[in-house]
Amino acid sequence: LKIALLAGGDSPEREIALQSAAQIAAALDRGKYDVTVIDLHRRDWHYTAPDGRQWQVDKTDFSLTVEGERREFDYALVIIHGTPGEDGRLQGYLDMMGIPYSSCSMVSSVITFDKITTKRTLAGRGINLAREVFLRRGEAFDAARIVADLGLPLFVKPNANGSSFGVTKVHTPEELPAAIAAAFAQGDEILVEECIAGREMGCGVMIAGGKEYLFPITEIIPRKEFFDYEAKYTAGRSEEITPADIAPEVKAELNRMTLEAYRTCRCSGVVRVDFIVTPEGRPYFIELNSIPGMSAGSIVPKQVRAMGMTLGELFDIVIDDTRR
Ligand code: DAL
Ligand code: MG
Repeated sequence: LKIALLAGGDSPEREIALQSAAQIAAALDRGKYDVTVIDLHRRDWHYTAPDGRQWQVDKTDFSLTVEGERREFDYALVIIHGTPGEDGRLQGYLDMMGIPYSSCSMVSSVITFDKITTKRTLAGRGINLAREVFLRRGEAFDAARIVADLGLPLFVKPNANGSSFGVTKVHTPEELPAAIAAAFAQGDEILVEECIAGREMGCGVMIAGGKEYLFPITEIIPRKEFFDYEAKYTAGRSEEITPADIAPEVKAELNRMTLEAYRTCRCSGVVRVDFIVTPEGRPYFIELNSIPGMSAGSIVPKQVRAMGMTLGELFDIVIDDTRR
């Protein structure tokens, strides 16, 4: 199988996405797959040959010509966080090119990357959701009213981004305008959300070949106030426990909601659903990562190892299920 491993991307998560792609490239079984890593960065989609020379992808037919030799691909393995790999754009392109791929479909990627759309899709499906106010750039808002409705502290976040870029935890009404401005710096739409206090849990999941794979759940204990970008990617800034030490009924609820979210958002491949569990044991949905971090320090690779599986074996299953 000739695989194009699509890496990089244009979001603030580009650096972590490159690390995820490097780890997957190293894990794939080269006896089975002929792998070409392609770095996508805006209009520059290139392959770097072992001699360091770079060759551009022909986007009109998704081929690559290296020293006069044309390569076509049977399959795309998309390991990009944020745009264009996680938000549906690349999936739309690959659909047009007729290339099967490893991630959620275009529609499913749109639903899961756009936080307000995810929440509206999951409403009424037995999944607890924090209350929110959704704002578009230029729209008038009443800060006092938002605080009165949602309480304090609260979270302000870009509607479509990852790794907590532009996210602020707000403790006083005075902090709200700056937090809103910081979120708008990342995009034209934002969410102001009620803060659910509790323990953070990451739930890796995949349904492939009709089989449900619920990965061991990971508890994330940030050493700071919340699991922000620095806590996510600086060693020692958070502690992660796999499997999480939680009551069986809490685990069962998390697993039920994880599968419900995966099915309702029509996901494919490996996904990680994040929740906060309140002290009473009620999980609240935070977000669904359709292309979860795969770097050495990321959560899903640890869960896969805890299941007694290698990343190579995991992607064998994903590829078999999605190559069509
Ligand atoms: N968005 C980051 C990469 C994650 O979900 O792990
Ligand atoms: Mg995320």
